[in-house]
Amino acid sequence: MGKLDGRVVLVTGGARGQGEQEARLFVEEGAEVVVADVLDEQGETLAKELGARARYVHLDVSREDDWVAAVAAAKDAYGKVDGLVNNAGILRFNALVDTPLDEFMQVVRVNQVGVFLGIRALAPEIEAAGGGTVVNTASYTGLTGMAYVGAYTATKHAIVGLTRVAALELAAKGIRVNAVCPGAIDTAMTDPALLDPATTTEAAAAASEAASAAIARLYRKLVPLERIGRAEEVARLALFLSCEDSSYITGQPFVIDGGWLAGVSVM
Ligand SMILES: NC(=O)c1ccc[n+]([C@@H]2O[C@H](COP(=O)([O-])OP(=O)(O)OC[C@H]3O[C@@H](n4cnc5c(N)ncnc54)[C@H](O)[C@@H]3O)[C@@H](O)[C@H]2O)c1
Repeated sequence: MGKLDGRVVLVTGGARGQGEQEARLFVEEGAEVVVADVLDEQGETLAKELGARARYVHLDVSREDDWVAAVAAAKDAYGKVDGLVNNAGILRFNALVDTPLDEFMQVVRVNQVGVFLGIRALAPEIEAAGGGTVVNTASYTGLTGMAYVGAYTATKHAIVGLTRVAALELAAKGIRVNAVCPGAIDTAMTDPALLDPATTTEAAAAASEAASAAIARLYRKLVPLERIGRAEEVARLALFLSCEDSSYITGQPFVIDGGWLAGVSVM
């Protein structure tokens, strides 16, 4: 018996990173999973590997028409959708006063508008399916500030707000809505070297290894549990919030950060 037997869950940004691990774990736990992303090749390959209980759809979360098509494709494949993981996101580094409006709006469109459109498109489907769950991916920057990621931080705070409002408005329809708030997680977002592990020249490979080692050292120092988090660990939290184990929980942000937000270290 899987924790998600009989469920159909759409995971945005499902082609790699945390979304990929969520798709893998959800299939393992019995769900049918729609992997949705803009990385078509990676998404198709993953869905193929996962077998008949996974399907890839192209979905740019910032586009209304893409959501309509993705919902139609999901229902066509599996007959219903009763779960959503709004995981897609992008990060841009810049001082607030140096951030061009286009860059700020790009982050808002993907991270914040994407979550809004996802909830709006899927809530009626989840209600029609007899209820279900939405898990939004915020961040610990949804609960605290972080310099040089102002646009990102603003959108992640907005996601926590949207999560609370959606939980209130959708509870009576049998839909629970929660958020995961990861700290530093080892994906391409924190370590772009992961994007191209088969680096072509020896020098480039050494540089990328050095960058990964520096990142590991940094988080050993910053995080009480002395390491960066793993995408699989966030996937397990998303699973908890998507299955009956969390049946009395809605409207909450869940921090998963190795203790980083717990307080200020004096050592
Ligand atoms: N890695 C971290 O340290 C960290 C920390 C806190 C929160 N997060 C959040 O976790 C989520 C997953 O990120 P990740 O760490 O797996 O990084 P990632 O960059 O590996 O994954 C992001 C995924 O989102 C997809 N995506 C980007 N724009 C999209 C769009 N317009 N439409 C659809 N898909 C799109 C990407 O193609 C990719 O598959 C993001 O929302 C991110 O903000 C990450």
